[in-house]
Amino acid sequence: MTFATYPSLKDSPILVTGGASGIGADIVRAFAEQGANVGFVDIQHDTGAALAKETGTIFEAVDITDVPAFRNAIKTLAGKLGAFRVLINNAANDFRQPIARIEADDWDKSQNINLRAQFIAAQAVHPGMAAAGGGSIINVSSVVWRLAGGDMVPYATAKAGVIGLTKSLADAFGPDNIRVNAIEPGAIFTPKQRALWYPTDKEVDELVSQQLLRTIMEGDEIARMALFLASDDARMITKQSFIVDGGLI
Ligand SMILES: NC(=O)c1ccc[n+]([C@@H]2O[C@H](COP(=O)([O-])OP(=O)(O)OC[C@H]3O[C@@H](n4cnc5c(N)ncnc54)[C@H](O)[C@@H]3O)[C@@H](O)[C@H]2O)c1
Repeated sequence: MTFATYPSLKDSPILVTGGASGIGADIVRAFAEQGANVGFVDIQHDTGAALAKETGTIFEAVDITDVPAFRNAIKTLAGKLGAFRVLINNAANDFRQPIARIEADDWDKSQNINLRAQFIAAQAVHPGMAAAGGGSIINVSSVVWRLAGGDMVPYATAKAGVIGLTKSLADAFGPDNIRVNAIEPGAIFTPKQRALWYPTDKEVDELVSQQLLRTIMEGDEIARMALFLASDDARMITKQSFIVDGGLI
């Protein structure tokens, strides 16, 4: 198969959260291959540093639930790369817990990584993006909130919140020529997902057989949607959410 090249992304400063592994790493690779100037943050220090070296991108190790540290990391990266024209809010934590065992602190932790961090990043890049003439913010949600995630209630709730955040920010930032959209991935078989939840081919096949398109999805499927939404090709698309799930739901 052959896929698109987007000339508008060349030399463009891009910020990716949670870029060290999983879908985020595929997003970092995809934008680097387009010639974009990619900066990314992640809590995984060594994995992030190795990916930055491999891809010629710039990495800042930070826990993005630590708001002052996260703001500092964004400032540092923008200082090196220039005002961001694209933000991809990808970092998340889909920890699972039976409802009876969820404490208030567990709830807050989930909202802080899965929802609040997306707002903090958008707020931080907004002035520079507006001054540069506009840009594209892409918030990664999930189909989980449409399906109902029984043992993932805080995560599913946050991912529904991401859609509200997307629409509200699109409204607020539109006059600055900043587009804000969401992507809702289906079942993406990252190494972590496979190790934790789908350890055998049988479990993978069972899920893939529920998709209309019976191909195992990996992070590059999401990265390609992010490339399109970030590019000038999507210049009149804002306040939308795009499901990329091979027809799962
Ligand atoms: N994998 C799937 O099937 C799937 C399905 C639907 C939606 N999604 C969404 O896609 C995105 C990426 O998914 P993934 O499977 O690659 O997730 P993942 O959990 O494997 O990776 C997320 C990244 O965020 C980083 N991260 C986590 N907590 C952090 C923190 N406090 N500070 C900084 N970095 C932190 C992790 O180190 C990791 O590199 C997430 O938003 C997820 O909710 C994934």
